[in-house]
This record gives sequence, C-alpha cells and structure tokens, in this order.
Amino acid sequence: MTQRIALVTGGTGGIGSAICLALADQGMKVVAGYSNEEKAKAWQEEQKAAGYDILIQHVDVTSLESCQQAVSEIKEKAGGSVEVLVNNAGITRDGVFKKMDAAQWSSVISTNLDSAFNMTRPVVEDMLAAGFGRIINISSVNGEKGQFGQVNYSSAKAGMIGFTKALAQETASKGITVNTISPGYILTPMVAKIAPEIQEKICKQIPVGRMGQPGEIGRAVVFLAGEEAGYITGSNLSINGGQYMS
Ligand code: CAA
Repeated sequence: MTQRIALVTGGTGGIGSAICLALADQGMKVVAGYSNEEKAKAWQEEQKAAGYDILIQHVDVTSLESCQQAVSEIKEKAGGSVEVLVNNAGITRDGVFKKMDAAQWSSVISTNLDSAFNMTRPVVEDMLAAGFGRIINISSVNGEKGQFGQVNYSSAKAGMIGFTKALAQETASKGITVNTISPGYILTPMVAKIAPEIQEKICKQIPVGRMGQPGEIGRAVVFLAGEEAGYITGSNLSINGGQYMS
C-alpha cells in the first residue's frame, strides 16, 4: 500500500504535536501546518532528533487563499495529495461576554471555525478525485457543553460539530469520512494559561480525576484515520475523562 499523506493544522502545538507523532508512528507521511516559522523549524529539528521525519508547511488557516497555496505546495513536497486532514489549529481569547470585544469574537471564529472551511475546501477536491479521505475535526468539550468565559470559543467549536455532520453526509458515498473529536482539558500550553485556582476547580469536575495527555487524543486520531474506520462518519468522539457525557 502507498504511504498515506496526512496534514495536521496547528501541528506544532500541544495536541497537534502528539497527533503528528501518532500518525507518523503508523507509517504516514505527516505534514505539520504552522503559523510561526521560527517555532516550527525548531520543532522540526526536535522531532528529527527523536527519530521523526515530519514535513512542515506554512498556512494561515483564516485565509482560503493561503490554504489553497499550502495544499499545492504540499503536493510538491510530499509527492501527492492530502488523504488525511486533521483540522486542529485553534486559539482561545477567553473573557466574560459582557466585556468581550469584536476582535476577541472574530479572531476565535475565524481561526477555529472559518478554518474548517478554508482548509477542507481545497483538500476535499483531491479526496473526491481519489475516492478516499479521512477528515478529523478537533472540537472541544466546551463546544459540546458551553463554558463560562468562552462564548466565542464554544460557538466556534459547536460549529465544527455541525460542519462535520453536514459534510459527512455529502461525502459518505465517496469513500471520505468526516468525524469530530472533542477533547476535554488536556495538559497543553493552552490549558496552562488558565489561572491555577480555576484549573483546580476544573479538575474537581473530571471524574477520572486528572487532565488528559495529548497522546490520548493522538491515539483517537489514528483510530479514525485508519483504513478500517470507513464505517464511522459524522460522529463525535468525546475524550474528556467523563467531565461531560452527551
Ligand atoms: N460559572 C458561573 N459563574 C462563574 C464561573 C462559572 N464557571 N466562573 C466564574 N464565575 C463568576 C465569578 O464567581 C465572578 O462572580 P462575581 O462577579 O459575582 O464575583 C464572576 O463570574 C467573574 O469571574 P472571574 O473573576 O473569574 O472573571 P475574570 O474576568 O477574572 O475571568 C475568565 C473570566 C477569564 C473567563 C475566567 O473565569 C477563566 O479563565 N475561566 C476559565 C475559562 C476556561 O475554562 N477556558 C478554557 C481554556 S482551555 C480550552 O479552551 C481547551 C479546551 O478546549 C478545553
């Protein structure tokens, strides 16, 4: 079988890194999408030292043009089109709604939700032509349940779940599956930004009694990206230590 090509947006971040390594462990050719070149180059070297050969690609997921450009550059450098797409790039701009400004709203909506359109649109064309594809959207427990201080983030992440279900219907007969993973609180730099006393309160709401590890999301991505997962589409896999059971 030919080596599958996977693109992970936000691939050099906390959860993104774990996803890249988990897919590389399956023998896939992995491309990590990045926005910060210096950080990405250092990250790539770090992975190389650990025995991983991962390609990196600049992409601004808030821009359709940039995503189109990235997809054609990946074809050159990876020698084929993207067959596994993980829409993982995301940011937080937390704050109570009554103090939230328009920039806090629109930056989160464009990075976390418009990105799903921008990145998937150019990739899905090649998947349709190939008759195979795996699209995995990284949402959040806070898109499922809502979260105080995250009207922007919860809206975008809930939107991703709708995006998944609608696109899954359109591509099901073409060999392309579309699924969502909704991580809970995972130990990453994004979660480390939350004030320690709030982190403590959150931990008390998690029945498993701890935050998650990035590798626990990586393993689920591998599962959904596999050849054998062709009958799973339009689903949402919650990985949150029992914090929210929908
Ligand atoms: N429910 C109800 N009321 C709450 C509350 C909650 N969960 N949290 C705080 N409040 C109340 C406070 O008691 C306080 O009440 P009073 O005004 O009556 O005293 C009021 O709301 C204001 O609270 P804060 O002092 O905390 O307000 P702040 O402006 O200093 O901070 C905040 C607001 C930045 C949103 C802060 O509450 C916060 O960081 N919350 C955590 C948000 C969060 O979970 N973000 C997740 C980031 S990680 C991620 O997003 C990854 C993922 O997918 C899971």
